[in-house]
Amino acid sequence: MELDPDKIPRHIAIIMDGNGRWAKKRLLNRINGHEKGMGVVRTIVQTACRLHIPTLTLFAFSTENWNRPKTEVSGLMMLLRRFVVTERRTMIKNGIRLNAIGQFDKLPPSVRDALQSVMDVTSRNSDMVLNLALSYGARSEIVEMAKQLAIAAKNGDLEPNAITPEIVSDHMYTKGMSDVDLLIRTSGEMRISNFLLWQIAYAELFFTKTLWPDFSEEEFISIIKDYQSRDRRFGAIT
Ligand code: FPP
Repeated sequence: MELDPDKIPRHIAIIMDGNGRWAKKRLLNRINGHEKGMGVVRTIVQTACRLHIPTLTLFAFSTENWNRPKTEVSGLMMLLRRFVVTERRTMIKNGIRLNAIGQFDKLPPSVRDALQSVMDVTSRNSDMVLNLALSYGARSEIVEMAKQLAIAAKNGDLEPNAITPEIVSDHMYTKGMSDVDLLIRTSGEMRISNFLLWQIAYAELFFTKTLWPDFSEEEFISIIKDYQSRDRRFGAIT
């Protein structure tokens, strides 16, 4: 069965989980698992682009991940920087716009600079948006939105009764993008873990036992096929 071009998800979000367990099974260092995971990120980004998915959001580092051992945090930051630097050309060539979502200021300057430079050079690309969620937490995102709206109301620029879901969406990091159609989590965990809580209201959820470093283009495509076979009712009846 081929993919139905009329039912391509407009926004896919992925919780890339299981790098540590993948490494442990092979008696490797956790960073080796993240490194292998980075290769899978490359593959999935290219596949999503080829399939004309307008928005792909990857959970690369959560606000809670700062609590991991220092060596793992710095190893992950090093990999992120390397990813951004080495993928720069491919992103430019393939029309991908890179966008970091989360607490940008908390990232180390070397990672921020690399991200900023690629975000700037790809800012006019329009084939696909690649959101990298870094130091990201959905509750913090919602709190920030509430603060912005409260300030606007206090200044007389916003009538509280006029607040709509669209206005809320316009104050999230994903402003201007579609809500998530398909959320994938690898490694068998069945949790949302504070990821895109507002944007997944009507997302189809897909959990796979595959550890992220073992995830493949074939499995990604088969999950999209599964998504295309689902009956999305958005609370109505068909
Ligand atoms: C979860 O696995 C994964 C992460 C915390 C980081 C995700 C990072 C990558 C896929 C590599 C680098 C990313 C980019 C965008 C270049 P885990 O460590 O929680 O695994 P475990 O649950 O098995 O311990």
